[in-house]
Amino acid sequence: MSTSGIVVAAGSGTRFGVPKQFENVAGARLVDRAVEAAALACDEVVVVLPAGVAWDGRHVAAAVPGGSTRSASVRAGLDVVAAAATVVVVHDAARPLAPPSLFECVIAAVRSGADAAVPGLPIPDTVKRVDGDDVVETVARDALVTAQTPQAFRADALRAAHDRGAEATDDAALVEAAGGRVVVVPGDPRNLKITTPADLLVAAALLVAAPEGQR
Ligand code: CTP
Ligand code: MG
Repeated sequence: MSTSGIVVAAGSGTRFGVPKQFENVAGARLVDRAVEAAALACDEVVVVLPAGVAWDGRHVAAAVPGGSTRSASVRAGLDVVAAAATVVVVHDAARPLAPPSLFECVIAAVRSGADAAVPGLPIPDTVKRVDGDDVVETVARDALVTAQTPQAFRADALRAAHDRGAEATDDAALVEAAGGRVVVVPGDPRNLKITTPADLLVAAALLVAAPEGQR
């Protein structure tokens, strides 16, 4: 049983202002941190880059250009993943703080029989459904989690879910829509996604506070 990792790094960083995956935090680029963690848990890592950008980091079996959406970029990575891979893990380059143990956890859940496994975090804030400026209702949050990456998949379930070129903000949503069994494992509160420049400051603070060896 072999495991392939896909690190999607082909976004344009509209909300950040520049392609954030190439920004440095505490001495390493976001994309390098994401690839490094994936490489510790996977047999091979494929990185998906903006068109025209060459890979200049370590650890990758292949680097391919992405598409105009995240889902299209995942499909570009899937196209070059080893045919023998039985488990595929998809991770955002914009999450530089995912520990290798989180990769192991989602991979183990898939090896135990799930079609997909996602890290989930409880929601600390009160959640309201709105219609423009009007609050419609307060949503019970005890049955809600926010989903992170890395997300692990049975390789054939992920390929089937992507077969028709569907779009979603994560890959688990496509497997859910196809009727697959998606399980949730405990997410890591430190595993934030860098969206705006302020997030990079938080990531830098978390890395500086981390024990040496986890930076
Ligand atoms: N991504 C990608 N290909 C795309 C869009 C996104 O590979 N066409 C990747 C990003 O590089 C990132 C991850 O998907 O690692 C999550 O996307 P997001 O945080 O939305 O990054 P961007 O799309 O780059 O940012 P924005 O939405 O602000 O433009
Ligand atoms: Mg985006």
